[in-house]
Amino acid sequence: MKVARTIKSVRQLVIAARGNGEKIGLVPTMGALHEGHRSLIMRSVKAGNFTVVSVFVNPTQFGPREDFNKYPRPIRDDLKICRDTGVNVVFVPTAKEIYSGGTVTWVEVEKMSKPMCGQFRPGHFRGVATVCAKLFNIVQPDVAYFGQKDAQQAAIIKRMVADLNFPLKIVVCPTVRAADGLALSSRNRYLSTQQRRDATCIYRSLAAAREMIKAGVKAPKTIAGRMRKILEKAGSLTGVDYISVVNPDTLEEMKHVEGKVLIAVAARIGSTRLIDNLIVDADRR
Ligand code: PAJ
Repeated sequence: MKVARTIKSVRQLVIAARGNGEKIGLVPTMGALHEGHRSLIMRSVKAGNFTVVSVFVNPTQFGPREDFNKYPRPIRDDLKICRDTGVNVVFVPTAKEIYSGGTVTWVEVEKMSKPMCGQFRPGHFRGVATVCAKLFNIVQPDVAYFGQKDAQQAAIIKRMVADLNFPLKIVVCPTVRAADGLALSSRNRYLSTQQRRDATCIYRSLAAAREMIKAGVKAPKTIAGRMRKILEKAGSLTGVDYISVVNPDTLEEMKHVEGKVLIAVAARIGSTRLIDNLIVDADRR
């Protein structure tokens, strides 16, 4: 496994692999790798790709009051996970390498960046779309892997790739959860023992929504109301940013549940903001 710290070196490694007839798989991450990230990496390795993992805590997707400085950066553990999983190249650039001279060109995926997390994290998806566009141009992968855990992000990146004609395929992989349902996240390590216990309210609220939809409930308000009750029972809950019932591709709000529905939640447990979601097919009972 090679560790590339510059754009030039990662490009050279990818060009050499492509010369050997390899397909290139990219897994973009911010590090602090866990089983969720590992499932994406494994998907690429198992597909037989020359697999590049980027580890870059992207400053432009954090708001001024967010956790950029305290975001975990256990790079030695991350490299070990990558090595053990069969990664070919880990790309670990500095912010200066990615944003040399400051950036005045941004990728804005309109409409889809506005609802849900977009309301609470202004500029977040502009930072995400821009860094992913840069990574796609730097690495030039045939396929890039994203997690369903960040449903809005995955939908936005798919749309960006379609709208800007990037010659690559986006594969969205299922959310990896702890045994009690909590979606794995690098931010879970901020939780105290009690908060970690209470955090299961998020998955429980989503599971209740799924049951309601399967039982034939059609009104998003009824579903969201029940979910909110479940969330509010958790002692460490400090707020619910949103509960959304939307079309999984366009992220448009649904007035009436039908077909595939994305149920998404952002809630704060103590000072940690967690997100999770489920896609439910209302037409399949
Ligand atoms: P990060 O939060 O490190 O996540 C990297 C990838 O891992 C994302 O595609 C995310 O959806 C996926 N992932 C995280 N937790 C997961 C879980 N429990 N199950 C399955 N997949 C999971 O998302 C980002 O970084 C950044 O925004 C990035 C795309 C790298 C751009 O900076």
